[in-house]
Amino acid sequence: MKKLIDKLEAEKNLEREEFKMLLTCEDDYLHERARAVRESFFGNQIYMRGLIEFTNYCKNDCYYCGLRCGNSDVVRYRLTFEQILECCAEGHELGFRTFVLQGGEDPYYTDDMLADLCSTIKATYPDCAITLSLGERSYDSYKRLFDAGADRYLLRQETSSDEHYAMLHPPEMTLSARKKCLWDLKEIGYQVGCGFMVGSPGQTLDHLVDDLFFIKELDPAMVGIGPFIPHKSSPYAEEKQGDLRLTLNCLAILRLMKPNLLLPATTALGTIEETGREMGVLAGGNVVMPNLSPLDAREKYMLYDNKICTDDGARKCRGCIARRMKKIGCEIAVTRGDYVHV
Ligand code: 5AD
Ligand code: FES
Repeated sequence: MKKLIDKLEAEKNLEREEFKMLLTCEDDYLHERARAVRESFFGNQIYMRGLIEFTNYCKNDCYYCGLRCGNSDVVRYRLTFEQILECCAEGHELGFRTFVLQGGEDPYYTDDMLADLCSTIKATYPDCAITLSLGERSYDSYKRLFDAGADRYLLRQETSSDEHYAMLHPPEMTLSARKKCLWDLKEIGYQVGCGFMVGSPGQTLDHLVDDLFFIKELDPAMVGIGPFIPHKSSPYAEEKQGDLRLTLNCLAILRLMKPNLLLPATTALGTIEETGREMGVLAGGNVVMPNLSPLDAREKYMLYDNKICTDDGARKCRGCIARRMKKIGCEIAVTRGDYVHV
């Protein structure tokens, strides 16, 4: 195993069968090398992004997601412009220099409204980066928001196999449409984040290797990875959750493939394991994304069951995450934490 890990670190790539061996590897050396590579690139600094979940309306029906339009158990909400700006104000005071505006695919927010929101945030906080996570939109819409001040865009491909994508989504959603969005975003000049769930229903090791190869090809600035967690009112309520070790191995492998990658230790990781986010950082992660959403919104933004941090305010989450990072020898950086090309 050691040889394979050293080979990945040196060559930044492996053959399909080699990747499959590493994905299931139990050797701590994998995480040790990933951590060392993270440290050599970022020191002990962990970047922080403030997540603002501003709408839980969604026109899509992704089978795994708690916010899908077919779930009538959700109490739907939309934050007003003022509420979003209040989240930013609190976040800025707490040292956040990136705001992630995330929502379901909600046609209520037009390009005009979103562009206005981005330019207002940018004018108020010129030292901050804006990340959008609003799903699939047209090239022109992405371009408009970029010109209004958005810096980054998160859109997970969820899986890189067409057949598997079709298992997780209704027929009107396609992997090719998703990939086109990612290429459009890149062309426009966004720092692009893609990503996938680990252990989603029907996923095989080959699917995960497909994700690694797709990431190699796309060469994104960020990759969001978290375990699949079943949601009680979804068609996949009875499926089992993604494996912790497998998720950590994905993080470690990606760190070795791309030393400068922005790699969050996700909330989903912290949901399946109390110290999951710490473990994510120790396996090569270098970003945390505490929640800045208003308290009454949080409990309504349930992508999956038992999501953590739904009854703690922004200040508490900020303190909690700083403490957790300090315990493992890391420090929260009060900077935008942009992607650096190598
Ligand atoms: N388990 C884990 N992650 C999920 N997401 C959506 N539903 C689930 C779930 N049940 C993730 C998707 C999406 C991101 C916002 O949340 O990967 O891109
Ligand atoms: Fe929110 Fe810990 S990060 S309570």
